[in-house]
Amino acid sequence: MKILAFETSCDETSAAVLNCDDSNNKVLSNIISSQLFHSEFGGVVPEIASREHLKNISHITKQALEKANITLKDIDLVCATSEPGLIGALLVGLNYAKALACAIKKPFVPVNHILSHLFSNMLSGQQEKFPFIGLIVSGGHTLLVLVKNYTDIKILGSTIDDAAGEAFDKVAKILGLGYPGGPVVDRFAKQGDYRYHKFPLAIVKDTEHDFSFSGIKTSVLYYLRKINFNDVKNDKLIADVCASFQYAVVESLYKRTLDACKKHGVKIISVSGGVSANSALKEKFNSLKENGFEIYFPEIQFSMDNAAMIGLTGYLKYINSNNKDYYIAESLKTNAKARLDYEKFELI
Ligand code: KG4
Ligand code: ZN
Repeated sequence: MKILAFETSCDETSAAVLNCDDSNNKVLSNIISSQLFHSEFGGVVPEIASREHLKNISHITKQALEKANITLKDIDLVCATSEPGLIGALLVGLNYAKALACAIKKPFVPVNHILSHLFSNMLSGQQEKFPFIGLIVSGGHTLLVLVKNYTDIKILGSTIDDAAGEAFDKVAKILGLGYPGGPVVDRFAKQGDYRYHKFPLAIVKDTEHDFSFSGIKTSVLYYLRKINFNDVKNDKLIADVCASFQYAVVESLYKRTLDACKKHGVKIISVSGGVSANSALKEKFNSLKENGFEIYFPEIQFSMDNAAMIGLTGYLKYINSNNKDYYIAESLKTNAKARLDYEKFELI
């Protein structure tokens, strides 16, 4: 099956083409346009993000089809992120994809963005085995899940306040490092000493698997106030604070994930979402390989928001569905008028 997929839930406009069957999932193209200019506002501005998606979506789609060397005639299934995300941003990709599916008379599958991060490690074909513990760490979500198969997914724990990526972004803001914070904190932390200061772990004590990243951010803020950060700041101090903060975040994610593995007798861990690009997180989890664990991290193009993961998740949802008719627009079932003129169909 050839799948055309869209992702527009936040500040990445992405379109991808996949070729999936029982034995192989191949990404033929995965075009991602990141809206970098939000950094000047210190965070994503929803209204601007939506307008930018609207401006870009047609030519991104065209690029995805061209790179995959196929036309709309070859597409069997259309997918798009339907939740969660910024509503205006979601609506652009969702409605574009629905209209396209209707025009080419193919099924449309709405996809949950968080679930698709979970399957992003399957895009390069490296992770295939079940059951596994999934750690999804993004800018808006932090989830620990037990995955027994494509449809049996149990949430074990989540954050009760800020997400892990949000904590990176907020701490970077406090340190004056700009947005998004994760990559720059990661870079500074490499030059710093993680033993410089002990920040609290981001785990909720009375629960088995939950996280809380709001406290650690506040603790960084109070610490910087105490040392009059603005008067004494220098690159070494910033690096040490970044390393100490990052250490506390990584330790928290690692401990809770390991607890979940022990409890459920699982030795396969799949880490995904934007924060999975973090070098210290990768190093910590990869050290578990010595103890017989299988550890998976996505390729960088699949760790950030991308349409390829949406396409794979939509495909899995579709082939595992007992009611495939559900994904076909009512208008196409009842009348034959909706017809695409392939020559006139405007993609630009
Ligand atoms: O999954 P994602 O691209 O978007 C959401 O679905 O939220 O995640 C974005 C988040 C941002 O908070 C960003 O700061 C964080 O991922 N991030 C990182 C790194 N690269 C991106 N966090 C820590 N270390 C990184 N290297
Ligand atoms: Zn995401």
